[in-house]
Amino acid sequence: MVSLLICIFAADTVTNFEIAFAVFYIAVILIAVGFLSARGVAVLASICIGLTVFSLFLTQRGSFEAGLLNCGISTCAIGITTYLALKIVAAQAAVFDAQEQFARMARLTRLGELTASIAHEVNQPLAAVATSADACRRWLDHSPPNLERARQAAERIAVDARRASDVIVRVRRLAKNEAPHRERVDLNEAAVEAIGMAEHEIERNSISLQMNLADDLPSVMADKIQIQQVISNLLINAIEAMTGVPSFKRELTISSSRDEGGSVVFAVADSGSGMKQSTLDHLFEAFWTTKESGMGIGLTISRSIIEAHGGIISVTSAPRMGAVVQFSLPAAEEKQA
Ligand SMILES: Nc1ncnc2c1ncn2[C@@H]1O[C@H](COP(=O)(O)OP(=O)(O)OP(=O)(O)O)[C@@H](O)[C@H]1O
Ligand SMILES: [Mg+2]
Repeated sequence: MVSLLICIFAADTVTNFEIAFAVFYIAVILIAVGFLSARGVAVLASICIGLTVFSLFLTQRGSFEAGLLNCGISTCAIGITTYLALKIVAAQAAVFDAQEQFARMARLTRLGELTASIAHEVNQPLAAVATSADACRRWLDHSPPNLERARQAAERIAVDARRASDVIVRVRRLAKNEAPHRERVDLNEAAVEAIGMAEHEIERNSISLQMNLADDLPSVMADKIQIQQVISNLLINAIEAMTGVPSFKRELTISSSRDEGGSVVFAVADSGSGMKQSTLDHLFEAFWTTKESGMGIGLTISRSIIEAHGGIISVTSAPRMGAVVQFSLPAAEEKQA
């Protein structure tokens, strides 16, 4: 940098007044912008202007007026270049800051979504733990205490607590966009287990449950816990949708079948409030809910899980006509004999 400054100064001084060599100081400024601070660039620009003026008095050849004019032009060029270069650098710094802030916000949003998803998904196993704990206490308070039933309730507590921790692992995996863990899953069996966990709610709401599970269903390659999370979310939505209809009209139908393409289809149909078109348009949007205490993420999580398994989830419904929520998953390859 210093040698470049000296070269330009020397050339500007030995050449005629008519040659405006000093405009080359612009190159020095543009180079300096890459590694000097704004203050450093401003000081360097002042030095360049000083050298331009100094060389005007040292130059011997040519017309002084032309030299004066060129000195003015060079000084203006250096000044304008410095101003614009500093503006560009400031704008780049602002963009960089904004990007950093955006990345921080995105991290926070992801964290918020993860927290909300975990809170949503562990709710059901935790509610089951609380129910079993109440039952356990009641069996112990009996006189004489029914130790066998109390032990069964304690076992259910252990199973549901383990389930809550399994669910947290699955939600974290989903949030990190990791491919689901795959094992051969019998969807009917997984569904019966998930329905068992919601049994208490189904009974408490006097809902009549009908199961139409196909016998010859092929298995699917899936993460069983995640698929059960989906089934639980659909069951809870169906149960909640029926709170507004008289208890004798509350019907929940669970069915599984195989479609023409060979995929396994699982459907939850209810006789609840149904949905308007405006609800159907937003169903899968995160944090979209029509419920006072809803989080609006049950279906969002369910869709992420089904799509991560290469499946499809869809809803058909009309106001007061109940709703059918179904998903399909590709069947696993048949086992070689
Ligand atoms: N079976 C159903 N019958 C009628 N409406 C439904 C049904 N399932 C979902 N909905 C509508 O879709 C909305 C979104 O459902 P989603 O499960 O994503 O969230 P939520 O149930 O409102 O809250 P949460 O996150 O706690 O589950 C619900 O608020 C409800 O309006
Ligand atoms: Mg829900």
